[in-house]
Amino acid sequence: MRVLVTGGAGYIGSVVAEELLKDGHEVVVYDNLAKGHRDAVPPGATFVHADLGDGQLLRETLRRNRSEAVVHMAADSLVGESVTDPAKYYANNVGNGLALLDAMKELEIARLVFSSTVAVHGEPRKLPIEESDPTDPVNPYGETKLAFERALRWYDGAYGLHSVSLRYFNAAGATERSGERHDPETHLIPLVLQAAAGTRPGITVFGDDYETRDGTCIRDYIHVVDLARAHVLALGACDGCRAYNLGCGGEGTTVLEVIDAARAVTGRKVAVEVGPRRPGDPARLVASSVRAERDLGWRPALADIRGILESAWRFAEGRR
Ligand SMILES: NC(=O)c1ccc[n+]([C@@H]2O[C@H](COP(=O)([O-])OP(=O)(O)OC[C@H]3O[C@@H](n4cnc5c(N)ncnc54)[C@H](O)[C@@H]3O)[C@@H](O)[C@H]2O)c1
Repeated sequence: MRVLVTGGAGYIGSVVAEELLKDGHEVVVYDNLAKGHRDAVPPGATFVHADLGDGQLLRETLRRNRSEAVVHMAADSLVGESVTDPAKYYANNVGNGLALLDAMKELEIARLVFSSTVAVHGEPRKLPIEESDPTDPVNPYGETKLAFERALRWYDGAYGLHSVSLRYFNAAGATERSGERHDPETHLIPLVLQAAAGTRPGITVFGDDYETRDGTCIRDYIHVVDLARAHVLALGACDGCRAYNLGCGGEGTTVLEVIDAARAVTGRKVAVEVGPRRPGDPARLVASSVRAERDLGWRPALADIRGILESAWRFAEGRR
């Protein structure tokens, strides 16, 4: 298939582009490089340096490349920033997203895979979190992702624009050429590895008095390659409007377990300081991916947290 990947120069998008190419698809990456990196785009993909807000260039790109499907990953995704600057999040995640749908509708492109997030569920009422569980975001980031997901339902019914929303839990790990390079970095694993490498003094754990096995928050880490494979499978399943939760499930991993695994993998010390809880941080977020397994035949193959850390460490070391 000829696929346009918005945000394909970003962390997850560049790995999705890589996996699509491996599967024999033609890939055009459309990214404004606000957060992405030109060198993360795999060599086999065509790169277009442009903003989603440029409707004319977007249409030209879709037309010129005779795109048959879109994987829409471009977004702003910092929870804290979304609280202080919600307008930015509505403009990019909803406004630019709807402009993309308009272009697709006009050009009769009927398949979309969308990067959604566990944040659409808000504070979970039970675990593991299933797709049918309530959606009640607690920040504008999750709210804007949910707003776009909801629009997709109506666009499917009215215009036959089919979509799959993939609600990721915590993407982690790296390939040889793509890993986490966010600025500012807010994700636990790259921060812990920076502490291990000595490029930051240590790591702050936000709260150690949660009702979990060691008092720290539990998250569901999923290897970025497993995540990317789900997009390839989802492209073949765009025949309605569906949503899937993507995580490894099980018991999840606590913050302290991630730090211990990082110490083991790197053989380095990681200094830890305990700070106060962050407002709105749920104690546990763990996915049920039963539906993705049943419908897409998707199963995480790289779920081991040590393996995830090893790949991220190799990537980080390779860049030093
Ligand atoms: N990283 C995670 O754990 C995680 C979890 C859940 C959901 N997601 C979602 O997955 C997607 C990718 O996340 P990521 O971690 O790779 O982030 P990222 O910031 O590395 O990638 C996003 C990319 O989109 C580009 N972009 C943003 N706005 C754009 C615009 N208007 N026009 C063109 N390009 C634009 C950025 O330059 C960047 O390359 C996002 O939609 C994010 O909300 C990520």
